[in-house]
Amino acid sequence: MLNSALELKDLNGETGMSEVVSYEVRGSIGLIQINNPPVNALSVNKGVLQGLLDAIKSGDHDPQVSAFLIFGSGKNFSGGADISEFGKPKVPGMATLSDLLAYMDTVTKPIVAALSGPTMGGGFELSLTCHYRLASQETIVALPEVKLGILPGAGGTQRLPRIIGAEQALELITSGAFVSAQEAKSLGIVDEVIDGNLLEDSIKWIKRALRSGLPVARVSERSVKTATDPKEFIAKATGVAEKKWRGYPAPLRIVECIDAAINTSFKEGIQIERKNIEELILTNESKSLRHLFFAERQANKVVGISKETPTAKIQNVSVIGAGTMGTGIAMNFLNAGIPVTIVDTNDETLKKGIDTINKNYLSTVAKGKLSAEDHDRRVGILTGSTQLSAVSDSDLVVEAVYEEMKIKQTIFRELDSFVKPTAILATNTSTLDIDEIASVTQRPEQVIGLHFFSPANVMRLLEVVRAEKTSPEVVATSMSLAKKIKKIPVCVGVCDGFVGNRMIHTYLREAEYLIEEGALPQQVDHAIESFGFAMGPFRMCDLAGLDIGWAIRKRKKSEGLISKRYVSIPDHLCERGWFGQKTGGGYYTYEAGSRVPIVNPEVSAIVESASSQQGMIRRTIEANEIVDRLMFALINEGAEILAEGVAQRASDIDVIYAAGYGFPRYRGGPMFYAQTIGLSNVVEGIERYSKQDHGDHWEVSPFLSQLVQKNQTFE
Ligand code: 3HC
Repeated sequence: MLNSALELKDLNGETGMSEVVSYEVRGSIGLIQINNPPVNALSVNKGVLQGLLDAIKSGDHDPQVSAFLIFGSGKNFSGGADISEFGKPKVPGMATLSDLLAYMDTVTKPIVAALSGPTMGGGFELSLTCHYRLASQETIVALPEVKLGILPGAGGTQRLPRIIGAEQALELITSGAFVSAQEAKSLGIVDEVIDGNLLEDSIKWIKRALRSGLPVARVSERSVKTATDPKEFIAKATGVAEKKWRGYPAPLRIVECIDAAINTSFKEGIQIERKNIEELILTNESKSLRHLFFAERQANKVVGISKETPTAKIQNVSVIGAGTMGTGIAMNFLNAGIPVTIVDTNDETLKKGIDTINKNYLSTVAKGKLSAEDHDRRVGILTGSTQLSAVSDSDLVVEAVYEEMKIKQTIFRELDSFVKPTAILATNTSTLDIDEIASVTQRPEQVIGLHFFSPANVMRLLEVVRAEKTSPEVVATSMSLAKKIKKIPVCVGVCDGFVGNRMIHTYLREAEYLIEEGALPQQVDHAIESFGFAMGPFRMCDLAGLDIGWAIRKRKKSEGLISKRYVSIPDHLCERGWFGQKTGGGYYTYEAGSRVPIVNPEVSAIVESASSQQGMIRRTIEANEIVDRLMFALINEGAEILAEGVAQRASDIDVIYAAGYGFPRYRGGPMFYAQTIGLSNVVEGIERYSKQDHGDHWEVSPFLSQLVQKNQTFE
């Protein structure tokens, strides 16, 4: 930890430089502090880099200064270059990271970095340009630029291989993996991990080292070591980058830079790195990934909730229902060390649920990803009960039972009589009206939707559904709890299917129309997977199971609620008992224990006969039409969701789709993608498809039309 007593305002001597960088000479050491909260981003326009450059230049010319120590204020050394400045104009005359690092490489006095907390991207690269690195126990270093569709562009691709070898550097840079202080020490990245006070001890370290001579150890002067044959290594790395990172432009360029590090001079390597980052910053992929970086953070900000909104402590949780969802939900809390009581009135289901949780953890232990102690700790805080009254001490109850309003209302009515007045009552419903559920309780302000996605212990998305009467405290508590259990929370409003499922219904309906008009399920899946989705719509249906949708359709039919064009193909599959992967067949066939879809000619025959039953003449549908229509279905519905205020902002929808529905991150989510191709092109496209045979279901969202007319975007 940095000692606040040693913040520069308390130091003797001259203070100066810019506000975002402070510089003081203490004895013979020039102390340079980066002070740009919250993460000490290395902003050009705010003058952070100019401040650093000025400080180093000043000490470089000062005979009193024998060495420098660079450190960060707050908990971070630096989170890297200021991502919000990418692609934006720079304030003229301000130094850039390249200017700073190039100068640092000429300095003849030792420069030491004291790393604290997350030290990322350009921040880590700045430290690699220093001659020594000291770190606190809490330090994490990483070059996560790849996740933003770029590469380390401040010498990281050239300096890191010179410290840890080409193979390890490539691995760290293409994965963006986080490296702890201890690991960094064992890799040779960090010279010493400091247990006590980082700033005090770093100053002592420098003083001690100066006494015995502290050479200027420039990383740029080292050579790059390779553990394997360089040619073979680069050829293999190229193959991996092409295959594993399909759609992502940066990994291949990273390989090119590592190749340059091995085979050219440092100076040439830096030029190649620079050219590559400059090109990557301009790509749509990088723009999309950067959009998602900010969108995920923006999603934490909820209208009507501020830092001052009080939050409740959630110290124990009950989950009602020991089925697949209930057990998955319970595991999230157990993983975070929060005790869980799982309640199921059926003794057998309860035992099975608890057994499933145990088995899941044991398999993680067997894979070496969980220690036996952590396993014991997690199952040790899990209890089961068949009595609803077991929830009485819980701070939060999450109901995860069958998706039926009457059942849920009965449970909420009963819960209301058992739980303490401050408890939050959450439902995991994916479609039902939460206001209706809340209405049967005496405390509708305590009722909220926590819509987990299956498998609930794996999927990171959590829709936090704010009902009409949900209190701000309950929303704030749920958002902060979601972070604690490592979810990506997005606050949404109540409507059928909320944001994610409401949009997916229009997308799946369009996919069904496509196969009825002439495509086959495998063509649709292939087109959308080539676009970058993790899974096409029909593979997704097979994974989720076709039976639930069938039951809903039967109910809606009997209630006369089906008004739009109806596609009977999934009904025909269900009539044969083909419910998807779980029955070995659905839109595809699956061999026992396998998830690999095999095209079933019988399904093709069912599809073709369904078209002729509707009197349709099947036609060839090209991949671009498939992609267009599926994306337009998402975008159009997304626009209506925005107009209704069910989602707070377009970027929240993007977060939902990237985190929960396998939307390719490098396309930024459906709403960002819409802006990439142009909203007017989306409207024109929808209008064009509406004029085709069987296209009369298309109706441009009035909100989308308005935006186009006013030449506005979703923002
Ligand atoms: N640039 C601009 N803003 C940044 C930023 C950055 N590099 N890193 C974080 N922020 C902002 C966030 O947007 C957020 O803003 P908000 O409060 O207005 O929403 C705020 O700082 C706090 O961020 P987090 O909520 O993420 O804070 P955490 O404490 O949870 O995490 C962190 C801190 C681990 C540093 C995390 O923010 C992070 O991973 N940041 C990005 C790291 C990164 O990708 N660095 C590489 C940048 S590109 C680069 O350096 C190019 C170079 O090679 C030339």
